[in-house]
Amino acid sequence: MPYYVTTPIYYVNGEPHLGHAYTTIAADVLARHMRQRGEDVFFLTGTDEHGEPVTQAAEKLGITPRELGDRNAVRFKELAGTLDVTNDFFIRTTDPEHMARVAEVVQRIHDNGHVYAGTYEGWYCPRCADFKTESELEDGNLCPIHKIELEIEKEDNWFFRLSTFQEPLERLYAERPGFVIPQNRYNEALSFIKSGLRDLSLSRARLKWGVPVPWDESQVIYVWIDALLNYYTALSYAREGEDLTERFWPATVHLIGKDILKFHAVIWPAMLMAAGIEVPRRVTIHGFLLLGEHKMSKSLGNVIEPFQVADLYGADALRFYVLREVSFGSDGEVSPEGFETRYTTELANEYGNLASRTLAMIGRYRDGTVPDAEPDGAIAADFDGLSEAVHRCIDDVELTGGLDEIWQRIKRLNRYVQDEQPWQLAKDEAQAERLDQVLYSLAEGLRVVSVLLHPFMPTSAERLLRALGREDLSLESARLGAVGGGAQIGELGQLFPRVETPEPSAA
Ligand code: MSP
Repeated sequence: MPYYVTTPIYYVNGEPHLGHAYTTIAADVLARHMRQRGEDVFFLTGTDEHGEPVTQAAEKLGITPRELGDRNAVRFKELAGTLDVTNDFFIRTTDPEHMARVAEVVQRIHDNGHVYAGTYEGWYCPRCADFKTESELEDGNLCPIHKIELEIEKEDNWFFRLSTFQEPLERLYAERPGFVIPQNRYNEALSFIKSGLRDLSLSRARLKWGVPVPWDESQVIYVWIDALLNYYTALSYAREGEDLTERFWPATVHLIGKDILKFHAVIWPAMLMAAGIEVPRRVTIHGFLLLGEHKMSKSLGNVIEPFQVADLYGADALRFYVLREVSFGSDGEVSPEGFETRYTTELANEYGNLASRTLAMIGRYRDGTVPDAEPDGAIAADFDGLSEAVHRCIDDVELTGGLDEIWQRIKRLNRYVQDEQPWQLAKDEAQAERLDQVLYSLAEGLRVVSVLLHPFMPTSAERLLRALGREDLSLESARLGAVGGGAQIGELGQLFPRVETPEPSAA
């Protein structure tokens, strides 16, 4: 079955930070793993360039929203490159093809009778580009997310009859208990639906920066309607001369942060129903990366710079760290100290050292050829079912769980080296067969964990597999004993070298 995975499209009002990198990394792990299974994969990411947040940020800089979009879309593309992300397309909502398709779908929603003219009055947050209900506001009429004071806004707009989709949405949730995961987010979205849905203003009269409403060019389509449609429009023009919609729609999984749950789990399926388009199979929500107690965000000024970290330590280390440190789906703290600790103890010591020791022993005791033997029963038992376990975790988008399954085996192999002491076996000719078995089991174990780790840490896993003389990345090969001995090992160098961090500047 085709597999279509998306990230949210990122606002271009600022530079990318680790929070954005997080979703993109997670989506890349899913896409790479599915390719290992031999699935037909399409992976989309991109930028959200219209609307109020971008207009306001551009005004502050004294440039046009278009200029700001051009400047920052490049940065988001660079981030994907820096992180070794294998997206099949990068959408920008300013793409003319996207804009034309948005107009078409919105016209369809209108023609199907789900749009009317009305007046909106309510608390409006320009940063969220969203109206807030009385109960959402914090003391002093503050936006609960941006902590800025909000004002009541009034506008004549076109409205989408979201309220009439309450029942169809409740049905969707009843029929598809896996539509939103994890469960607590499913419950949250469902109770939001059950509490009663209000119609949604579908256009903005005050703004010029957006897709014009096709039947009323004095207004532009609300940025969220425009943005959500990216998941659908991209397929129609991502490949020149080809329309991928039939092949990949409905999307298999939309990956999003918890702050945009309502848009993806309520408004988006309702919009699609209104347009007569199939709803996605699944929406998966992750938590926030926190620095201290706060959400990492540009406006709060507390960010870990992904370009810098990837530059110093390599993309793999960053990809590993965010998925290992914070249980995917929950909020969790990250910190430069935490990063360095995991880099040293887990990457350099547990994985890197295991790799270099194993290769060195095969070099020294067996002239650089992986011996041919049966895998050690004890190790085989501990690796039994590993590939299936990782497979299941990925299906359930439990990325931290999948990574942990693999890491437990890396720890197991380290214990195996300690227990078996191959350097002692090497001293005794009578133990030659046993040494063959131990070295073969280590090489096989390393090979299997590296194939499974590949989606998480592609460069390191590939380097190690090349050094082991085995480059098959397919999930089928991720079984202990699937590959026999006989390979000639190569040079590895240090997978995770010590890094001298630059002195913080005096300023
Ligand atoms: N443009 C909208 C999404 C439109 S999708 C049709 C948007 N953009 S965003 O740039 O503000 O955020 C994009 C994603 O990054 C969200 O899923 C958000 O949760 C995520 N993150 C931003 N900061 C984050 C953290 N500190 N931690 C984890 N993810 C967070 O919303």
